[in-house]
Amino acid sequence: MKICRSISCLQKELPAAGKREIGFVPTMGALHQGHLSLVRRCREENGLVVVSIFVNPAQFGPTEDLQRYPRDPEKDIAMLENENVDLLFMPDNGEIYPQPYRTYVNVEGLDSGLCGRTRPVHFRGVATVVLKLLNLVRPQRAYFGQKDAQQAMIIRQMVRDLNLPVRIRVMPIVRDGDGLALSSRNAYLSPPERQAALLLPNSLQKAAALVRCGVGESRIIRESMQIELDRDPLLVTEYISIVRLDDLQDIPAVEPGNTLIAAAVRAGRTRLIDNLLLGDLSC
Ligand code: PAF
Repeated sequence: MKICRSISCLQKELPAAGKREIGFVPTMGALHQGHLSLVRRCREENGLVVVSIFVNPAQFGPTEDLQRYPRDPEKDIAMLENENVDLLFMPDNGEIYPQPYRTYVNVEGLDSGLCGRTRPVHFRGVATVVLKLLNLVRPQRAYFGQKDAQQAMIIRQMVRDLNLPVRIRVMPIVRDGDGLALSSRNAYLSPPERQAALLLPNSLQKAAALVRCGVGESRIIRESMQIELDRDPLLVTEYISIVRLDDLQDIPAVEPGNTLIAAAVRAGRTRLIDNLLLGDLSC
């Protein structure tokens, strides 16, 4: 696996792809099986697999966990080598945001609800760095996880709006044996917080069961999820939202094939998200 830390290295290495199709998995490192599921799908579908590791400061608010975000580059490199990744791009901040840096991407209307309510600069930072990385790597396909469903929707919209020549592939959530969605931030959880965090996937299972039984009213589903989340005082609910997939607007009842049921909670200082998708995010 070739490791590039500079854009000039990337630009020298990428032409070596020749006629091979390029698949790209952008990450912030601290890799887990969720990331590896993206890398494996990318490996299956493309001739050349490029992964990036960049903890993007632009997507962290001033009070968020940029400094303590987990970083383990040696372990990440070993995991990616094991997956037969061809090229790893690991730039530093100066490479991605040379000073003075002034240009940002806002995907209007999709970035203010759900996580955007408490993370006002987050999606601007995500869209900006993803656009920059797509411009640098020029992949035919790019891979994202469904756990960050709002992020995937925003990237999908950006790709459409700006006519970017890339297919966005969104892969299912990967969970631990007990149901907790894998996240680099799970490493922050104390044992009691981790136990409490299980109520998040459990609440989504309750929602899924209601939908299966034909109960589609958003208010009833939200109430049932809230009851589940309230079972442990260690968990503080940030939001439970039932939104249309196309525009992320709240809807009074689930629309089969076009609905996202999403929730965010805090367990101590750790913020966790999870969701249930009734529809398709890839494009
Ligand atoms: O999902 C992530 O890990 C990040 O938001 C991403 C897409 C790599 C952009 O920094």
